[in-house]
Amino acid sequence: MQKHIHPKITLVGAGPGDAELITLKGIRALRSADVILYDALVNKELLEYAGENVPAVFVGKRAGNHELPQNQINELIVQSALTYGHVVRLKGGDSFVFGRGHEEMEYAAQHGIETSVVPGISSSIAVPELQHIPLTRRGVSESFWVLTGTTRAGELSADLHLAAQSNATAIVLMGLGKLAEIMSLYQQAGRGRLPVAVIQNGSLAGERIVVAEVDTITEIVQRENIGSPAIIVLGEVVRSHPAAQLRELVVAECN
Ligand SMILES: C[S@@+](CC[C@H](N)C(=O)[O-])C[C@H]1O[C@@H](n2cnc3c(N)ncnc32)[C@H](O)[C@@H]1O
Repeated sequence: MQKHIHPKITLVGAGPGDAELITLKGIRALRSADVILYDALVNKELLEYAGENVPAVFVGKRAGNHELPQNQINELIVQSALTYGHVVRLKGGDSFVFGRGHEEMEYAAQHGIETSVVPGISSSIAVPELQHIPLTRRGVSESFWVLTGTTRAGELSADLHLAAQSNATAIVLMGLGKLAEIMSLYQQAGRGRLPVAVIQNGSLAGERIVVAEVDTITEIVQRENIGSPAIIVLGEVVRSHPAAQLRELVVAECN
């Protein structure tokens, strides 16, 4: 007898990398998936929650290496739902934070597919937190901004110019390639002594952190060969990092 197909998509945030940082609801969704479409920053261990013979398709994108254009991902989601039934779209961190999750959900809904979303722990919050850097702290920082270093047009976001003028903690995703330009914005705003942390592979084996100041961080990150994925945290809260004696450089290998 042919299986009755009920096309639907669940967007699941996989968390920042450590497989244990997905939600219980996310695991339940994976267990009931008929097909999984997953991104580059997703921990592959999570695929073990899928049922036997459930296909898991890599549709990830990494900077400069686009495996599949977004419109083809959208189409694949719809076709997979019509072919298999329940599609779990597994994305790094939270799907709605620089994840294009909402676009995918909208596209699927426009094609008559039932949609739901399971929030994930965004790297923007978890990665600094795992390094004991609070994003807000009484008397130090009253807010935090999550920004992208790389806009669609390849330019620095206008919001970064505003962030450089603000006391808010700035968490910059996808910014490593533009680190020098971002630091130059802060220097122009007279913030050369502001503490900065750059954290690579947060929550994973091989996690590394460099803590320095706006004036010095770019050179140190290059020298220490810090690569992607990485998050830049700018703000006085970085002084809360346990090792931060900020006149000195701190480079720590974690795990
Ligand atoms: C396309 S964005 C997706 C963000 C994701 N939706 C989230 O909420 O974490 C990818 C960027 O997130 C940051 N990122 C994600 N996971 C990370 C990790 N484990 N360690 C450091 N940075 C990470 C990096 O800046 C990376 O370039």
